[in-house]
Amino acid sequence: MVFKLLFEYILIIWKLLVCCSIVSYKVNQKGAVKKESKLLLFQDKMPPKKKDELKQILPIYNADKAAPLFWKYQQYSLEDRQLFDAFFLNFQKELQIKMTDNIYTNMEFLCQSIGSKIHPLFKQVTLDEQIETKTLKQIDLEDQKKQLEAENIAKSSKNVKNQIQPQVDQKNQKKDDQKGNAVTSGKEDQKKGTKKDENIQQGGKDPKKLTELELQESEEEIKQEMLPYLLISTQRIDYLTMKMIIFQLPFTNINTLKLHNNMFDDETLELLISFFNSDVSQKIKKLFFEWNNLISSQKRTLFFQTVSKSIYIDNLILRCNSLQDEMTTIISQQLIPSTTAQSSNIKFLDLYDNQIGIQGFQQLGKMIYKNKSLTTLGLCKNGISNVSEIEQILISIGKYPMSEEQYQAYRNSEKERDQIIERNKKLKGKKLLEAEPVPELEAIEQITENKWAITRNNTLSMLNLSLNQLNDESVERFENFLQVVHDNFQVILSFNNFEQRSKERLKKKFNKKIAL
Ligand SMILES: *[C@@H]1O[C@H](CO)[C@@H](O)[C@H](O)[C@H]1NC(C)=O
Ligand SMILES: *[C@@H]1O[C@H](CO)[C@@H](O)[C@H](O)[C@H]1NC(C)=O
Ligand SMILES: *[C@@H]1O[C@H](CO)[C@@H](O)[C@H](O)[C@H]1NC(C)=O
Ligand SMILES: *[C@@H]1O[C@H](CO)[C@@H](O)[C@H](O)[C@H]1NC(C)=O
Repeated sequence: MVFKLLFEYILIIWKLLVCCSIVSYKVNQKGAVKKESKLLLFQDKMPPKKKDELKQILPIYNADKAAPLFWKYQQYSLEDRQLFDAFFLNFQKELQIKMTDNIYTNMEFLCQSIGSKIHPLFKQVTLDEQIETKTLKQIDLEDQKKQLEAENIAKSSKNVKNQIQPQVDQKNQKKDDQKGNAVTSGKEDQKKGTKKDENIQQGGKDPKKLTELELQESEEEIKQEMLPYLLISTQRIDYLTMKMIIFQLPFTNINTLKLHNNMFDDETLELLISFFNSDVSQKIKKLFFEWNNLISSQKRTLFFQTVSKSIYIDNLILRCNSLQDEMTTIISQQLIPSTTAQSSNIKFLDLYDNQIGIQGFQQLGKMIYKNKSLTTLGLCKNGISNVSEIEQILISIGKYPMSEEQYQAYRNSEKERDQIIERNKKLKGKKLLEAEPVPELEAIEQITENKWAITRNNTLSMLNLSLNQLNDESVERFENFLQVVHDNFQVILSFNNFEQRSKERLKKKFNKKIAL
């Protein structure tokens, strides 16, 4: 027994060392090859397995039970799902020991073990194939022509198709190639023909929204592009594939998950929910969940609740999910620091284009007032036309000088509070239940010799209100607001309806605190 443990321990340390050296490779096209050979090396050198330690993996699909012939989106039956769950539970150790930091190798191994076909997204492209496509891309105009023709046919025969295929530009394409982990591209989808299209059709969305995907690369996002990420865009992911993805994800160095327009079914979404509820998700720091409104899903509330109370995620990007007031309220509530459990750790929250209304903004404001972790809030393109809609947010930030009366009233409440605390201290035993609630007082700060101010300088330091319909009638409120916020606070008001004159005035007066 002791010997077995020791053996496992050494194996883990050894694996870690090898993994670290692999991770240090820059993953570019050549790197991918290097990495490959390194991995082979690793397998060669691996100490011989002891037969009695690891079970033989019995595939789910075999001669008796055939796997679906071609990959096709599957909504698996309860029976099938239980079979998959049992498989992963039963062979957990045997499968885990084979996991590497390469998502393609992992997925291939898992599929082989199960006896299923691999999702086309995870089919490994060989270097030869990569070079071939690269050359094609550069010189073969015929290819482009064919693509255009295909698009035209698609447009005329099925409108839906074009709507769900985001156009991947060269820049993105290149970025994806370099990652090695990033998957999907519009072009590849096209090559793979109609089989897949028919499976993802229902994901059809407002075509306008998709083209905007490329416009909004915030600085934050560009920084994130440097990190290894997994992107699944405009693809339906079946239960089994999701099960495999989640199983191997902790072994990779992926820390950003991007899920765009995926039409999750409830069972698959449930896998994601339990993933984010558990420690195995701790490497995922950034979650992009976009164009997935989940309107018809029974797991909608639970999903948004789970990801927004995550203690691991620090960047939560929920653009274009039709969150409206209902989900915005749910999300805001999770972000309020908890006194009983570990609090959410979200610092960057992007709620771009979610049709949020006054109620949602009020909840967000209340959350900001309670402060804690949030530093950036994105509310772009939510149709805000009157600054009064976000009043609750504005009054939760800044430093508010108190009048003499306010100050005296404050000191009086402070005395009352202290008396309550004293009275509560004297209670013992059963009487403890009768303790009076202690009123919470805001923090105050002395600003001049005899002037005090309430300080609501919580952690929030950027409010992005770009692409709304705010106009000159809101200028005065923003002026008052910017006078009370702390020096490092910035509000973004670009692409609103301000007159040039007002813009210049605000800029002159507040400089770095405002971007117009
Ligand atoms: C504000 O949001 C818009 C739209 O998402 C984005 O393009 C812009 O970069 C953001 N600004 C900052 C300073 O993050
Ligand atoms: C806000 O955060 C500060 C610093 O972490 C803390 O002192 C203060 O009590 C918090 N305010 C509320 C209302 O939770
Ligand atoms: C903005 O909202 C405030 C308060 O609801 C209202 O008094 C004001 O007339 C509104 N302004 C516009 C332009 O609608
Ligand atoms: C608010 O900011 C002031 C300085 O501007 C600082 O002294 C004080 O500790 C801050 N309060 C909170 C609650 O962060």
